[in-house]
Amino acid sequence: MSFFAYKNGEMHAEGVALATIARQVGTPFYCYSAAALRASWQEFADAIKGTNARICYALKANSNLAVIKLFGDLGAGADIVSVGEMRRALAAGIRADRIVYSGVGKKASELMAALEAGIGQINVESSAELEVLNAVAGQLGKKADITIRVNPDIDAGTHEKITTGRKENKFGIDIDLATEAFAKAASLPNLRVVGVAMHIGSQLTSLSPYRDAIVRVRSLIQELRTAGHRIDRFDIGGGLGIVYADEQPPSISDFMQVVGKETAGLGCELTFEPGRRLVGEAGVLVSEVILVKPGVSKTFVIVDAAMNDLIRPTLYDAWHDIVPVREPRPDAATICCDIVGPICESGDYLAQNRDLPPLSAGELIMVRSAGAYGAVMASSYNSRPLAPEVIVDGTRFAVTRPRPTIDEMISTERIPPWMVQAGQ
Ligand code: LLP
Repeated sequence: MSFFAYKNGEMHAEGVALATIARQVGTPFYCYSAAALRASWQEFADAIKGTNARICYALKANSNLAVIKLFGDLGAGADIVSVGEMRRALAAGIRADRIVYSGVGKKASELMAALEAGIGQINVESSAELEVLNAVAGQLGKKADITIRVNPDIDAGTHEKITTGRKENKFGIDIDLATEAFAKAASLPNLRVVGVAMHIGSQLTSLSPYRDAIVRVRSLIQELRTAGHRIDRFDIGGGLGIVYADEQPPSISDFMQVVGKETAGLGCELTFEPGRRLVGEAGVLVSEVILVKPGVSKTFVIVDAAMNDLIRPTLYDAWHDIVPVREPRPDAATICCDIVGPICESGDYLAQNRDLPPLSAGELIMVRSAGAYGAVMASSYNSRPLAPEVIVDGTRFAVTRPRPTIDEMISTERIPPWMVQAGQ
């Protein structure tokens, strides 16, 4: 079921017309559907019911406080990769012991902040990190609960920039070197090994890489136990794909069935770190057409959202469906166009060679499946203010992050005193 649909000729997010929001907050803006967020959460919750598993929402996909709070209230923990994300999770009310800290390059100061806050689990990704964490925990007189993230050398079959579980990727400890790392961890007095973690990539649309990876990690767990290590948790990571174009990602229940089958009898508590699957389809980006520029070889529809607002098309060649906010007539002719932003770069596009009904200046468009890795990856390149974020819930909506004014953007910068004098 889509929570973004035409009603009376106008695209709505649940019960609110996107044009109404556009009038109030201006464009471009991100819009999230609370019902869609709840529905995707429910799919996970139903699939793990009665099992020894927990879901730690990967904040990196969308770290808007309202989104985090919505999941936190439904029982989610959090998967974080920075102290900034930790602070957001805590601010949204997620308990520290429900937070998992991932990432390949955590600084000593960040590890210290995490331990001070009482973070529940730190997923260590290198031998060097074991030592730093051991030292930091010692300084605080604490014992840190850790898993070691292993790299199972599996091709996730996804875009090369978002695959993480192959030997040549920087993530995790090579599965062949894992036993050494566990032995080292066990010898360090301020660490308590509680399990193994993996994360093989993002936007996976097939279950077989998960199956293959889990089979490898499963035999590692057995080896580790034989060597005397206590492995109580198995963190499977995130990565489940969503629909952008015509992908057919597996259902959560099919995914859980595979995981359940391959982990059966291990007696581990499972952790899942979904990001995109929880938020991706629950968010859209709305933009207004500035002007239409017929070119020699194609038409350019220049809109007020740009690569700084949604970088996925140009960074990953990602395809996002784009539709007019006013419902086109069913027999409307289409033209082939590029939907581009106003930024001075040829890579500034949201879509290329797209067949769309003719659009004119002032019309609104909606970019689908923009809830994950959209607003969080935005920048203010070209001094463009970050697009505001709005959440709709039934017939209500609220701005959860307003658009900054240019004065606010400039106000954090300082001109050195000698330059001020030079200009007088
Ligand atoms: N856990 C770890 C350790 C991760 O590195 C990631 C994502 C996740 C969980 C969540 O993965 P998800 O369920 O969202 O696939 N910016 C890229 C995606 C980068 C994903 C990085 N890691 C994109 O826009 O496609």
